[in-house]
Amino acid sequence: MNAHAYDTLIVQEVAPRDGLQIEPTWVGTRAKIALIDQLSTAGCARIEAGSFVSPKAIPALRDGEAVFQQIARRLGVIYVALVPNLKGAERALGAHADELNLVMSASETHNRANMRMSCEASLKGFGDIVGFVAGSCVTLNATVATAFGCPFEGTIDEDRVIGIVDAYREMGMQGVTLADTTGMANPRQVTRLVKRVLERLPADALTLHFHNTRGLGLANVLAAYDAGARRFDAALGGLGGCPFAPGASGNICTEDLVNLCEEIGIPTGIDLEKLIVLSRGLPALLGHDVPGQLAKAGRTRDLHPAPQYVCKI
Ligand code: COA
Ligand code: ZN
Repeated sequence: MNAHAYDTLIVQEVAPRDGLQIEPTWVGTRAKIALIDQLSTAGCARIEAGSFVSPKAIPALRDGEAVFQQIARRLGVIYVALVPNLKGAERALGAHADELNLVMSASETHNRANMRMSCEASLKGFGDIVGFVAGSCVTLNATVATAFGCPFEGTIDEDRVIGIVDAYREMGMQGVTLADTTGMANPRQVTRLVKRVLERLPADALTLHFHNTRGLGLANVLAAYDAGARRFDAALGGLGGCPFAPGASGNICTEDLVNLCEEIGIPTGIDLEKLIVLSRGLPALLGHDVPGQLAKAGRTRDLHPAPQYVCKI
């Protein structure tokens, strides 16, 4: 065994949910299913395949039931559904989601903008969901959105984030996600918060969700990884964004992240070539360019022929 071997970094692919929720062009159900199936074939072990929210809030994902029911379930892959309330949990269980991702913001203002309710009401609803899923084999993850900053309120008190993490765990959530909804996190802040959270729960129960809004996404991943985090959300092509957060833009890009991991020797279990092919198909699917960089640049090993005027010695 290589003395410098790194632990596997687990990628949860969120393009089918975070990525598509903000797309203005309707992506048909069959295209969504094809995307999810190709992502599982590429080795993504966790895929957030959709959300069960109000179709008025997020029309782009209104076909969640059909998507979950028709994807080709690959053995070992966990298909996650984002849900905001008990009604969403009922729909997600009906569609056989493996895991529910419940979302509340640390910022009261963003929670009211996004979920149209107070944080207190969100937490009460989560309690109802815990009761509802008890006895089923579905697992629960709960996200602290705007954990590193809020586009309305600015700085978020780290103690508040820790308090929400503790509340989630006390309620029985198996996993917790810290989400940087509009890319306000910086690596030093990430190191601090991840270290504090990992004093409270094991690394396999913590996911980091970074947006690359200010170009710090992968720097934040490395800071979190070095602080002990092992699970990260990322979206193919760097798609994504919350429609209820001004200035939101894409998640960290999956193929850029996997490339970083390959370059420095962190295993991910994902087939980068397949991701690149998939990502290169996104502009045709969505009708616009996507932010990811690797699919445009190619891998570092993809060399170019020297110009003819360079003499070969
Ligand atoms: N799935 C489908 N429909 C839902 C629903 C769900 N999970 N929850 C509520 N609804 C429906 C209600 O049945 C009601 O329908 P009607 O108008 O036909 O009677 C309507 O939505 C309003 O219900 P209400 O409980 O008053 O919701 P609201 O308007 O206060 O909105 C949420 C609350 C949470 C449903 C809504 O804000 C939402 O879905 N937010 C999610 C936003 C999101 O996904 N953001 C990005 C991911 S973080
Ligand atoms: Zn997000």
